[in-house]
Amino acid sequence: MAPIEPVIAPPPPPSTDVFRNDIFKNKVLFCTGGGSGICKSMTEAIMRHGASATIVGRKLDRLEATAKELSTATGQRCITAQADVRSPEQLKAAVAKTVETFGKIDFVICGAAGNFLAPISGLSENAFRTVIEIDTLGTFNTVKATLSHIRQSRGSYIHVSALLHHQGTPYQAHVSAAKAGVDALSAVIAVEEGPRGVRSNVISPGPIGDTEGMNRLAATDPSIRIADHIPLGRYGDKRDVANMAVFLFSDAANWVTGQVMVRPTYSLCR
Ligand code: COA
Repeated sequence: MAPIEPVIAPPPPPSTDVFRNDIFKNKVLFCTGGGSGICKSMTEAIMRHGASATIVGRKLDRLEATAKELSTATGQRCITAQADVRSPEQLKAAVAKTVETFGKIDFVICGAAGNFLAPISGLSENAFRTVIEIDTLGTFNTVKATLSHIRQSRGSYIHVSALLHHQGTPYQAHVSAAKAGVDALSAVIAVEEGPRGVRSNVISPGPIGDTEGMNRLAATDPSIRIADHIPLGRYGDKRDVANMAVFLFSDAANWVTGQVMVRPTYSLCR
């Protein structure tokens, strides 16, 4: 059989070229980790379709700058709530501020995460626990703080996970264990809350260009050519993840729950 000539996939169009501009009119998004990176891009895309948003994080200066930028870019309202997802009380206060301001919550993105590269021999007990607390407990705390509102709106969750735990990934024991827990939580929410009209899905972005995580990994080992192992032959773009979030929150995904959106790891054609 003749080898398949690889064709590099073009970057994605903005979701506004695909979905109507008003599909999220009067909807409210609550996004942890929304101050930067992938979660900021998802928030922007959802706001571009008419939603208001609260972005939640630890660094107030960064949150405020992002909220201003997103409001200006989208014409929608974006407020900030300073909270560490490890604190149930701070999250409850962030939810209360959101409901006071917007009256409800329709969509939640559990995106706050912590990561660093370390071999298991170099991970202290506290280092491992810290990432479990941010990623897994932080997701649980966010769900606990928002669930009554999501039940009321018959809304939807997106959890940001990873591909790391689908195989053994060196230097990522803490994050692999933490994200496996996130995937499990989402599946349980999907089956327990589905009868109430609540959906829950996971996006496992894989290698997305121009993000803090990929910049650090690439800098560590320039010989890693991850794009060679991606079927579409290029790094993901933050907009790819944003478009997936728009789809998952849209009515087009009303039958989609309990899913983990994973990119295959190996290319069949290279
Ligand atoms: N290698 C090994 N251990 C590390 C480490 C590394 N590169 N970075 C942090 N740790 C350990 C710390 O030494 C500490 O353990 P110890 O008390 O036994 O020494 C433990 O992890 C907690 O670190 P600390 O920085 O005190 O916690 P924090 O709550 O302030 O911050 C993170 C935790 C994960 C947010 C922080 O490490 C960080 O800023 N990471 C980079 C930014 C990031 O994660 N962005 C998200 C990208 S997905």
